[in-house]
Amino acid sequence: MRIIVLLFVLTLTASAQRAALKAEDVAAGRQVFMTSCSGCHGLTGEGGRGPNLMTGRAVSRSTDEVLFNAIKFGLAGTDMPPTNLPDGKLWQVMAYVRALVAPAFEIPVEGDEKAGAAIYFGKGGCTKCHAIAGQGGLSGPDLTSIGHQRPLNLIREAVLDPARRIAPGYQRATLHLKSGQSLNGVLRDYTTYEYTLQDAKGDLHFVKATDVSDSRLLPGSPMPSNYKDSLTATERRDLIKFLTRQSARGAN
Ligand code: HEC
Ligand code: HEC
Repeated sequence: MRIIVLLFVLTLTASAQRAALKAEDVAAGRQVFMTSCSGCHGLTGEGGRGPNLMTGRAVSRSTDEVLFNAIKFGLAGTDMPPTNLPDGKLWQVMAYVRALVAPAFEIPVEGDEKAGAAIYFGKGGCTKCHAIAGQGGLSGPDLTSIGHQRPLNLIREAVLDPARRIAPGYQRATLHLKSGQSLNGVLRDYTTYEYTLQDAKGDLHFVKATDVSDSRLLPGSPMPSNYKDSLTATERRDLIKFLTRQSARGAN
């Protein structure tokens, strides 16, 4: 009987799957990650000898139990080694790894949200290109729900190093057409049959793939790349805090 109860409890624990992330675990886990994991997974989990932990689906899909065991025992037959740390520390590093991929809104973030809003609407000039809840420009992605859509690291990177990763649908491109004409703009979408290019005026061009002689993706983001210099460390922190709290589901 006892065994049955125990099995039942174990099953329940596994199906609870994920514990809520606590700020102090994430912070302590970061320290452990720096010492024990960053050599292979990069300083912010961006990858190196080991895979990128921010973009891999493995982390976001696995249960706490699976992730914990992978970190504790390593992954047999791969370069991912077992980790010789007490379970408490393993739990913390797992919380940190989770926080890398969790929507930013779900994790604790430092900073002053109100001060961040003031930078967003004022000094940062973000409303020129971005809208929140229907207010603002349309040339950049809508940020109404950015806190739900992206993890913290990607939001930080988007603001401080925009060219590093271009938001889907915002890659600049030139299409050379068989007619001799060429079109410049942002490649909003493409399929095997058709390109959807938006020009600087905002007009959409639907171009059949069979009409294109050459297509070039251009590097760089239309977003200013100097925020890491024009904003102070405190301003950057507060602005990022503000962005992470943007959630269409409310609860700001
Ligand atoms: C010696 C290099 C090395 C170290 C140190 C290391 N890892 Fe890994 N890790 C890897 C490799 C390589 C893989 C990919 C294994 C595979 O091929 O599936 C991996 C896979 C993982 C995965 C699964 C990711 C995925 O997308 O499949 C997680 C999570 C992970 N490591 C976390 C950690 C944590 C946390 C630490 C520190 C406690 C750590 N690793 C230390 C090399 C390392
Ligand atoms: C001149 C227009 C412009 C301004 C000003 C601008 N952005 Fe952007 N932003 C863009 C464009 C275009 C993209 C999409 C391309 C890319 O990912 O770099 C983008 C991308 C982003 C993303 C990533 C969105 C996603 O879905 O991943 C974030 C976050 C962001 N901007 C925040 C800001 C903040 C905060 C400010 C003000 C400090 C700002 N932007 C100012 C044009 C702008």
